[in-house]
Amino acid sequence: MTPGSVREMFIRAVRLDAVPGDGYPFGLPVVRGLVAGGELRFPTAVTLLAGDNGSGKSTLIEGIAVAAGFNPEGGTTSFNFATRASESELGGHLTLVRTAGRKPRTGFFLRAESYYNVATEIERLGVAGSYGGVSPHQRSHGESFLDLANHRFGAGGLYLLDEPEAALSVQGCLALLLRIAELVETGSQFLIATHSPVLLACPGATILEIAAGGAIEEVAYDQVEAVAMTRAFLADPGRFLEHLMSD
Ligand SMILES: Nc1ncnc2c1ncn2[C@@H]1O[C@H](COP(=O)(O)OP(=O)(O)OP(=O)(O)O)[C@@H](O)[C@H]1O
Ligand SMILES: [Mg+2]
Repeated sequence: MTPGSVREMFIRAVRLDAVPGDGYPFGLPVVRGLVAGGELRFPTAVTLLAGDNGSGKSTLIEGIAVAAGFNPEGGTTSFNFATRASESELGGHLTLVRTAGRKPRTGFFLRAESYYNVATEIERLGVAGSYGGVSPHQRSHGESFLDLANHRFGAGGLYLLDEPEAALSVQGCLALLLRIAELVETGSQFLIATHSPVLLACPGATILEIAAGGAIEEVAYDQVEAVAMTRAFLADPGRFLEHLMSD
């Protein structure tokens, strides 16, 4: 099965019926866009969430993670450490549309910002054995992330990843794409917020992009702003920068 194959997803869609308040996170354009757009569907085993810095990807993915029962700071559903109290309340208001009779066997929520705390929790719980055998604190950021994907992620899992490329080289991103394909083959589902043109190329994935006004639209790979801009930049970096600096 490829990442694009039709299959009943664990989470088929997410919905927010009304905006329950003002201020963060309810005042964000993306939250209003979610209400206005109705159900946001995840029709394929891999859904990629794109959008500029500050467009609301992390807020949305964290809300979905909380609604799915994960610790807001990351980890598996059995992690319950807390180092800060700034999580958004969005998760409590989201409705997840699940497939009856299909429950993930395992799962992981990765927040790029708090992976250090997840690593500390892995050490505290004494479960490094399930993560490749070495404490994540004794591995590089990218090595420990690939340990996680290769050893702790398993078949039939639900994985919510927020900018996994923060840890990874281009080769690391390609290794992650291969691992994702394997896990999809064995019944896993992924929701990934990313700026990486490499990860955005995941075969068969649905790409949802948050526009400046907050609308969340399904787009083709070539239309994603991160892809188009990277392509324009790489075509002639010198000229691109000259143009940018003269503006
Ligand atoms: N705890 C918070 N309190 C108030 N505002 C917040 C909080 N967290 C995020 N925001 C604001 O909400 C908006 C969306 O932030 P979010 O982190 O979801 O964006 P993002 O799309 O993940 O960005 P990036 O690509 O930089 O990771 C931003 O304008 C941000 O400043
Ligand atoms: Mg973010």
